[in-house]
Parts: sequence; C-alpha cells; structure tokens
Amino acid sequence: MYDNGPDLGRNDTCWCGSGKKYKKCHLAFDERLQGLWEEGEEVLPRDLLKTPDDIEGIRRSAAVNMGALDEVAARIAPGVTTADIDRWVHEYTVAQGAIPAPLNYEGFPKSCCTSVNGVICHGIPAEDEVLAEGDIVNVDCSTILDGYYSDSSRMFTVGEVTSERQRLVDVTRESVERGLAAVRPWGHLGDVAHAVQEHVEVAGFSVVREFGGHGIGLEFHEDPFVGFVGEPGTGTVLVPGFCFTIEPMVNAGRHEIDMNDPNGWTVRTKDGSDSAQWEVQLVVTEDGYEVLSR
Ligand code: MF3
Ligand code: CO
Repeated sequence: MYDNGPDLGRNDTCWCGSGKKYKKCHLAFDERLQGLWEEGEEVLPRDLLKTPDDIEGIRRSAAVNMGALDEVAARIAPGVTTADIDRWVHEYTVAQGAIPAPLNYEGFPKSCCTSVNGVICHGIPAEDEVLAEGDIVNVDCSTILDGYYSDSSRMFTVGEVTSERQRLVDVTRESVERGLAAVRPWGHLGDVAHAVQEHVEVAGFSVVREFGGHGIGLEFHEDPFVGFVGEPGTGTVLVPGFCFTIEPMVNAGRHEIDMNDPNGWTVRTKDGSDSAQWEVQLVVTEDGYEVLSR
C-alpha cells in the first residue's frame, strides 16, 4: 500500500478495530485511497485516520475542553487578568481528571493561550495583563484525556468594544463556518482554505500565512499543516476519519507577523493592527463532518 502500512488479505481482520473481515470492512476504502495516491493526490497515511473508538475518546476529551471554555465565558469581565483565565482553565481541567495540553508543551509555561488585541496567537497568560473594557481576547484551550487530544478556541469581547473590533471577531467566526460548510468527504483541504480566505478578504481583512490548523487526536499536532489560503481541489484529501482543526488567524490590517518577542512565544501583527481567531476541531465522516470541539 501507498503508506507502507498494513497490506491485508481479504479474510484478515480489518485494521480499524471493527473485528470484521477486511473484505467486509475497509478493503474498498483502502483501494480508493491507493487509487487516489496513484493519481498523484495527497492522501494521509492510514495510521492518522481515527477509528470509531478514537473518535469516542476525542469526544470525551472535547467535552472537558469545551467545559473549560464555558468556564471562561461565564467569568471573563473587565478587571480580570489573563493569569486568572489560566487558573480557571487549569483548575477546571484537572478537576475533570484531564491535563491541559499547552502546559510544558515545547516549554510553554501556562495551561492555555490568551491573545489580546494585536496578539495573533500564543499569548502567555500573565498576572500583570489586566483585561479592560474594549479589549478582544482569544482563549485557546487544549485538553488531553486518556491520551486523546482536543483543541478549540473562542474570542471574547470585554465589555463594549468598537464596531470595527466586533466586525473582526464576527467575520473571523463566519469564516470558520464557511470553512466547515466546505468540508465534504473525499473533497480537499484547499476547498476549506479557499472558503475561509474568500470570506476574510472580501471583508477587507487578511489571513495569517505562517500559522494554521493541524491534524490532531493521538498527538497535539499531527500532519498535515492546515493553511487557510489556497485553491479549491488542492491539498490533502478529506478522507473519512481525518480529524483536524479549522483555526484561521485573521488580521484587521496586513497579514505579516512579528515574532520578535523575547519570550519566544507571543506572535503579534507586524503592523500593530488587531487580530482574531476562532478554532474548531472536527472529524470527516462518511456523509459530512462532526464538530468535536468548539
Ligand atoms: N492551541 C494551539 C493550537 O491551536 C497550540 C498552542 S501551543 C502552545 O494549535 F504551546 F502555545 F500552547
Ligand atoms: Co489548534
């Protein structure tokens, strides 16, 4: 097979964990993947596709992840620090028997990312960062439960925000919905990227190039990189069982980034403009997709 993975006989037990014979389970599916690969399509190795058991595990992880974000939604207000948000996320996640995936991930020091106004992503929660009326903040939560990873983020507006900030937040959220609506089994990641990019750019905003989504499930960040600039019909094939994130970072001004913060994490817009992001995690199914975390 194209992926150097299992090359089963018709009567062998299928690789997917169903317990069925290969010929009654994933044989035709594997032939389709092999055929696409021979046509030059980008096809994921089968070991990155999630089985029904994996998906159930990710759903349970995602329930905790969304609960952590709900906790933030209920408590965020002017005067709160981003360190307060980090504590809420940490305490909620641990109380559910789960682990915040960002903590110690490649040296990241906190349990979630908090990215305020001109910060694009990977903002580090801090005691001296007090949220004020008018701020917009992305809170990005990721959870490990029983070895399964979930990941999603939301924007929060603090008190009253300017109409331009509200529009940035709304357009970014809509772009994720457009991306989801473009997901079709056996379609392509480029369909999703194009739908996101089109909606963002028609609104006069720009899509960050250097950061994007990713496969996820048994690891925090699995292949492939999921960009949000692209052409329909290109890129990785959306095979049922492919689990990934749609998480465009949208700048109010130009798309270029500034990675010069000495902490090695915080990414800002180069032009100082505001930036927003919403993230959802989904799995492609036989007849569409299922949102796992949002
Ligand atoms: N949650 C981010 C994502 O959506 C990754 C954050 S990595 C961290 O992929 F180390 F900064 F937490
Ligand atoms: Co992510």
